[in-house]
This record gives sequence, structure tokens and C-alpha cells, in this order.
Amino acid sequence: MSIDVARDGAIAVVTIDRQDALNALDVETLTELRDRLRELADDGEARAVVLTGAGEKAFVAGADIKYMSSLEPEQAKSWGALGHEAARLLEAMPKPTIAAVNGFALGGGCELALACDIRYASSRAKFGQPEINLGIVPGWGGTQRLARVCGIGVAKELIYTGRVIDAEEALRVGLVNAVADPVLDHALSVARELAAKSPVALALAKRLVNMAPGGLEREADEFGDLFASEDAKEGLAAFVDKRTPRFVGR
Ligand code: CAA
Repeated sequence: MSIDVARDGAIAVVTIDRQDALNALDVETLTELRDRLRELADDGEARAVVLTGAGEKAFVAGADIKYMSSLEPEQAKSWGALGHEAARLLEAMPKPTIAAVNGFALGGGCELALACDIRYASSRAKFGQPEINLGIVPGWGGTQRLARVCGIGVAKELIYTGRVIDAEEALRVGLVNAVADPVLDHALSVARELAAKSPVALALAKRLVNMAPGGLEREADEFGDLFASEDAKEGLAAFVDKRTPRFVGR
């Protein structure tokens, strides 16, 4: 199995494990990742998803270059679409997704991390979009999501040069939310914190933030609709009663 899904209470930890290729994604591994993410998107028991790479060296060193070296344009389009599907699931599933980047996050690896809601890096992590050095460009969302997360100036420099940056620089340019060791423990502690909140409110928060910068008109309305949920009633009442809220996910 190259994709392992383990449960830690309400948290699902998805580990990409193809260590002989620094967790680079071939068709089999990426298809399996896409399938597992689809299941987790629909799984009401999983309240947060943490994505990481197996081993000490890599998160994901990118799409499998050996596989790509013989692709014709139509095949490469399908390959791009498959990566987009996996990334879109991370970005749009109605629960928080957190990348715990434990080593190289290059090319498609950086793109999967960018599709997660939150990114944490170990101090050894390295990020980059080195596709330009292969005569290609990012194909799993990197041209758009790197620009959204870090701004167009940073995205153009990293994508044009293919320069690989360390965790401190990734933090400085806003590519990661924090640098922490061990990174998986940090990601899990934040995931646990999120899993205790109202999943209804979190899902709406994610949907609204994903609309940025165009979602302003939707916010007041969706905010209002949320007041019909048991969780909103409970959260507001608990504050007034000076007690801890118990969210039920409705
Ligand atoms: N695809 C296939 N195999 C890969 C790989 C990749 N992306 N990255 C690493 N590997 C393999 C290596 O070929 C090597 O296998 P062999 O032992 O069979 O030769 C093994 O993993 C270990 O790698 P190295 O010996 O190269 O390890 P290193 O420590 O010397 O270097 C590295 C590490 C700098 C990450 C280097 O492996 C590297 O540059 N990898 C490629 C990174 C890259 O360019 N990624 C972008 C891919 S393109 C893409 O992702 C397109 C897209 O947008 C979808």
C-alpha cells in the first residue's frame, strides 16, 4: 500500500509512502490518494485530515519524472487532471486539511501542500516548483495556488527560477503557517483542536474563505443561515452560561 490512512480519534492521517522514490507520485499512488481523499470527504466521522509523507526525507518529491518522461500531450492532460482532482479534494472537502511537510515538497508535492487549508513545515523541509528545470511548468494547481497563497511576485520568482527554499524562507513568504518539530505532532495537535469545534461552522468557514476574494456578498447570508444549526445555538448559549460547548455536528 502506498497510501496509508490511519485514524487518531476524529482525525484521519493520510501518509504517502513510496520512499524509494522520495514519495514521488506515480499513477497508482496518485489514483489511490485521490480515492482515499474522496472517501474522507464523505466520511462524517473524520473531522480533520492531516496529509504527510513517510520517512525522514520527503513529503512528496513531485510527480514521478520517470513516468512523465514518455507521456504524449493527451496522456499528460489526464495526468494533470488526476493531480487536480486530488488537490481539489484537499481544497474543497468540507473539513480542515493540514499538510505536515516533513522534507522535500517539490513540484506536485508543493502543489498538494498548497491545496491544503493549513501548512506546517519541519525545520528540514524544502519547498519548490522546479518544473522549469525539466522544461515544463507546474500542472497540479501550482501556478494559481502559489500565487494566491504567497502573492504573484513570489510565485513568479519561484516558478521561473525553480529555486528550492528552506522552511524559514517558506515561513517568511507565507508558504507555511509555522515551522515546528516534530511537524506531525504539531499538525495533530492543531487537528485535534479543530476536531473539537463545530464541524458545521468549520465547513462553512472553509467554503466562505475559499470564495475569497469574491465572497463578501455571500457571507452575511450564510452567517445568518448558520444560526439554524444546533451547534450555533449551543456555542452561543454555552458562552452565556459560562460552560464548554458540546458540538454535535448539526
Ligand atoms: N520522480 C521520480 N523519481 C524521483 C523523484 C521524482 N519526482 N524524485 C526523486 N526520485 C527518486 C530518484 O530518482 C532516486 O531514485 P533511484 O535511486 O532509483 O535513482 C530516489 O528518488 C532518491 O532520489 P535522489 O537520489 O535524487 O535523492 P537526493 O537526496 O540526491 O536528491 C532531490 C533529492 C533533490 C529531491 C532529487 O531527488 C530531485 O531533484 N528530485 C526531483 C524533484 C522534482 O523535480 N520534482 C518535480 C517533478 S515535476 C512535477 O511535479 C510536475 C507537476 O507539477 C505535477
